[in-house]
Amino acid sequence: MARVYVHDVAVRDGFQIEPAFVPTGVKIALIDELSATGLAKIEATAFVSPKVVPNLRDAEAVMRGIRRMPGVIYSALVPNAKGAERALACKVDEINLVVSASETHNRANVNRTTEQSLSGFRDVMRIVRGTGVAVNGSVSTTFGCPFEGNIPEARVFQCVERYLELGVDGITLADTTGMAHPKQVRELARAVSTRFPTAEITLHFHNTRGMGLANVLAGLEAGVVRFDGSLGGLGGCPFAPGATGNICTEDLVHMLESMGYQTGVDLDKLLVAARRLPKIVGHDLPGQVAKAGKITDLHPIPHQ
Ligand code: COA
Ligand code: ZN
Repeated sequence: MARVYVHDVAVRDGFQIEPAFVPTGVKIALIDELSATGLAKIEATAFVSPKVVPNLRDAEAVMRGIRRMPGVIYSALVPNAKGAERALACKVDEINLVVSASETHNRANVNRTTEQSLSGFRDVMRIVRGTGVAVNGSVSTTFGCPFEGNIPEARVFQCVERYLELGVDGITLADTTGMAHPKQVRELARAVSTRFPTAEITLHFHNTRGMGLANVLAGLEAGVVRFDGSLGGLGGCPFAPGATGNICTEDLVHMLESMGYQTGVDLDKLLVAARRLPKIVGHDLPGQVAKAGKITDLHPIPHQ
């Protein structure tokens, strides 16, 4: 069966929107724990304005404090050249750039037009060139925008094309507020792969409307083998009204492994981390398997 690459974004997408700041040492310990589970990639933090996203103001300390596990890609979200300089100084493996397909969301998120973001990325590429650090290009609100609604496919194609012209190594199509449905995912993922056959595509879903894992299946049908998830189903963009958690990483791994896909992830280790997470954030989480157990966890037969 096919190999599927699972990325976790809880420490970035999740902790950024939590009401309380998660202490730096707790973030580092969680990343170290996740590193030992076999995940392909961990988005460890974001080098964004600490005024705008105070929960990730400790980006440097987190990146410098973690233990790097060989084989794991440690990525960080970066909106501009200043963020790229900070990320490089901490020796990230990958810079994850972000622009929104929706003009309105891009303004709300990074206070720039999409054109300003994309042309600023030229400076980022100049700074990164020769360092060996990979660059991924994320397209937020690919499948819908909470302000504008439907996003024309042409906008998504434009963003992908611009990223590829810049020379990025991968593209993430992100459903920032859980507006994607499976038919749309299958069609758009196929259309992007057909138009840009060399692009290595990741899909990033939020489960805001309960369609997250169905969207993963649609992505698999379209040939995508890379997916972002978030431990416990944490997550959400602070600049998108109604944003809620990503698809849950352990539920994703559980589904994929049950279907015979190879994720390389030790689900039991992941579940240990997931079951500790509510204590860290101080509230219940939407993940299902951490509560219900795996489908192979059977119960004793009741006495007759
Ligand atoms: N890291 C740290 N500080 C940064 C920064 C970065 N990547 N980019 C800009 N700044 C600082 C500037 O140095 C300046 O500081 P000063 O006031 O002390 O001089 C200040 O922020 C304003 O700079 P400016 O370029 O005008 O930024 P802005 O106020 O227009 O904000 C962003 C633009 C992109 C920095 C900000 O909107 C942002 O960080 N957004 C991230 C949103 C996010 O993380 N969303 C969730 C994930 S999709
Ligand atoms: Zn997200």
